[in-house]
Amino acid sequence: MHPNIHLLDHSLIARSVTVLRDRDTSVVEFRAHARIIARGLAFQATQWLPLIPVQVQTPLATTTGAQLRNPVIAAPILRAGLGMLDGFLDVLPDAITGFIGMKRDEETLEPYEYYRNVSDLANAHLFLLDPMLATGGSVRAAMRALPLERAASYSLLSIIAAPEGIAATLAEFPNLQIHVAVVDQRLNEIGYIVPGLGDAGDRLCHTL
Ligand code: PRP
Ligand code: URA
Repeated sequence: MHPNIHLLDHSLIARSVTVLRDRDTSVVEFRAHARIIARGLAFQATQWLPLIPVQVQTPLATTTGAQLRNPVIAAPILRAGLGMLDGFLDVLPDAITGFIGMKRDEETLEPYEYYRNVSDLANAHLFLLDPMLATGGSVRAAMRALPLERAASYSLLSIIAAPEGIAATLAEFPNLQIHVAVVDQRLNEIGYIVPGLGDAGDRLCHTL
């Protein structure tokens, strides 16, 4: 496994991924388990964010605590990335949020951007959220559109990744860190991850 790939190895995450894969899972359960996985990925991806010491007054004494040194930006790639935002914010409720709208053409598999609102990346830790890394076209288009050189770091949090998407994305963005619950076998002939979970956007938005 490439050193920039960080698998989230946890029994409850394996269980939640199984719930998402099941075609009979209800939208209510799908949303709940996507949120649980996003929370786990957020804990893992933020584990080593740099801290600065601060003094804090407890009811009993003054002691040294810690606060984050840099701003954090959580940026879901619409639509499906929105299903991971609440989980990320469960862990970091004061994160700055940004939004990137990307839609993959189902024939060509080329993404087109229809919305972007991401605040200044200067010295920020950027966390892109997208449950599916398939060809990697969507996340690469999103990253090309952002001034990543201004950021302190940038990472992608995904639920399922295909080997093809990982390879293409790291080839173009070797400094990207990818936190993922599971790496699946392959893409099929129409660009879906196998075994995967189907269309994440449709399952999250109840538009099947
Ligand atoms: C899905 C998914 C990713 C993208 C992955 O979005 O949420 O953004 O496909 O595929 P790729 O790696 O081959 O680009 P989709 O374009 O279906 O849009 P949606 O989230 O609005 O449903
Ligand atoms: N987008 C999805 O939602 N699912 C896939 O398997 C591939 C791309």
